[in-house]
Amino acid sequence: MIEGNEDAYIKLKENKPDIVFNVTEGINGVSREAQIPAMLDLLNIPYTGSDPLTLTTCLDKARTKEVLSYHKIPNSKFTTSNNYKKLNVGDMRFPLIVKPVCEGSSKGIYSSSFVSNKEELINEVRRISENYNQTALIEEFLPGREFTVALMGNNDNVEVLPIVELSYDEFPDDLAHIYSYEAKWIIDTIDNPMPFFTCPAKISKSLEQIIKRTAKQTFNTLNCKDWARIDFRLDTDGIPNVIEINPLPGILPDPRENSSFPKAAFASGLTYNEMINKVLFISAKRHGLV
Ligand SMILES: Nc1ncnc2c1ncn2[C@@H]1O[C@H](COP(=O)(O)OP(=O)(O)OP(=O)(O)O)[C@@H](O)[C@H]1O
Ligand SMILES: [Mg+2]
Repeated sequence: MIEGNEDAYIKLKENKPDIVFNVTEGINGVSREAQIPAMLDLLNIPYTGSDPLTLTTCLDKARTKEVLSYHKIPNSKFTTSNNYKKLNVGDMRFPLIVKPVCEGSSKGIYSSSFVSNKEELINEVRRISENYNQTALIEEFLPGREFTVALMGNNDNVEVLPIVELSYDEFPDDLAHIYSYEAKWIIDTIDNPMPFFTCPAKISKSLEQIIKRTAKQTFNTLNCKDWARIDFRLDTDGIPNVIEINPLPGILPDPRENSSFPKAAFASGLTYNEMINKVLFISAKRHGLV
C-alpha cells in the first residue's frame, strides 16, 4: 500500500512495481484524481484504470456533459454559474438540481439541491460558491428511475455488470428524491443499511439493452480504461440520460455499505477479491503484461 501523498513519487520510483492498482482520489485541485496516474506515466509504471485526461475530464461534470452532448449521448440540459447575483438559466425548466461541478460521493449535494424556483436556485448557487469555492452546475432535473452501471474491460471488449437500480419508494418523505449526502451518508449507515437498491434491476429487456448500449458508448467516448461506473436517470420520455461517469468507482468492501460497483460485481457472481483481481487482470492484459 502506498499512500497517494507527497511521498508517493519517491516510493513508487524506489519500489518500481510491475503494476499499480490505483484507487487514489487525491486532495488538492481539480486534477487531484490524475496526479498519481500522471506520476506513474512519468515513471513508466503501468496502472489500473483511466489516464489523467479521462480522470480529470470526468471529475468536471460540466466538461463531461459537453463531451457527451457533442457525441449526442443523452444528458440533461445544463449551465454553470459562478455568480448568484447574475443568474440566467435561459429556457431551462424547473425543477433543477444544483451541484458542485467537481465533486463526488454526493459532497455538496443535499436535499436542498433540488430547486423548484428562482429563489431556491439563487440560494443553492450561493451555497456552492461560498462553501465550496467552486462553480455551480445547474441541470434540469431528470424525474425518472435511477440506475447505476458498472463496467469492466476495454474498447470492443467491455462487459456491463448487472444493473443496479436505486429506488426512492422507501425514502423519507422530507427528502428530495436524489441520492444526496443525507441519503448516502446519514440515513444509510453500516448499522442500518437502507433498502434502496435492487440488483439486477427489474427492467424490460429493451430498457436493459438501451442502458447497456449507452453505458458502453459513454465508457469508450470518454476513453475509460479497465473499469468505471456510470450513473443514469430516465427523462420524461423514459430515455436513459447519463448523469455522470466515475472512472474511479467507489469500492467499499462491506456489502452493508451499499457501494454500487461491488454490489454489481457480487450480483455477477464475483467475490470482492475476484472483482479486484479481474480489474487487475484486464489492466495487465491491456498493458501487455499477460
Ligand atoms: N440531472 C439530474 N436529475 C435528477 N437527479 C440528479 C441529477 N443529477 C444528479 N441527480 C441526483 O443526485 C445524485 C448525485 O449526483 P451525482 O451522481 O452527480 O453526484 P456524485 O457526488 O458525483 O455521485 P457519486 O457518489 O456517484 O460520485 C444522483 O445519484 C441523482 O440521484
Ligand atoms: Mg453519482
